[in-house]
Amino acid sequence: MATELTINISIDVLEKAEELNAQEREAMQLAQDAAKDAYAPYSNYLVGATLLLEDGTFFKGSNQENAAYPSGLCAERTALFGMSANHPNKKIKLIAVTARRREDTHFLPAMPCGACRQVMAEYEHKQHDKIPVLLQGPDGSFYRFKAVSDLLPFLFTSDNL
Ligand code: THU
Repeated sequence: MATELTINISIDVLEKAEELNAQEREAMQLAQDAAKDAYAPYSNYLVGATLLLEDGTFFKGSNQENAAYPSGLCAERTALFGMSANHPNKKIKLIAVTARRREDTHFLPAMPCGACRQVMAEYEHKQHDKIPVLLQGPDGSFYRFKAVSDLLPFLFTSDNL
């Protein structure tokens, strides 16, 4: 007979920016700034992502689109690939992601796509240390995940090869 496996994921829901700690607040502010740099003439959906590194520095990314649509890249991956290319040995302490429509000033819930979760999982696995993820939630709130693995249960890593 089949046994049932239940997965529990608990996240913190912060109702407003004041409930974030100072580094989270700065990371989210920078992500909101980074969204302005998105090159998104096709979707007009601006995404900003910030990585807080172990030395206290931040690395930003934004979505970069292309007339050949699949050639574009999400904000999370521009940040992660750019960071890893420039600082291959630095650990990531936090990923912050936000999004908005070009014509609006308010930010929208920013749920990373599956491919971005997979790329986040690669770096979490590489650094042997959890990476908390802070996402813009609804109505000015924020979702704090304790680790990338909470965003992608049953994830695939080099351990599976
Ligand atoms: N996008 C991101 O930047 N991150 C995600 O996780 C989801 C989608 C971008 C890709 C594209 O430029 C636009 O949002 C619309 O899909």
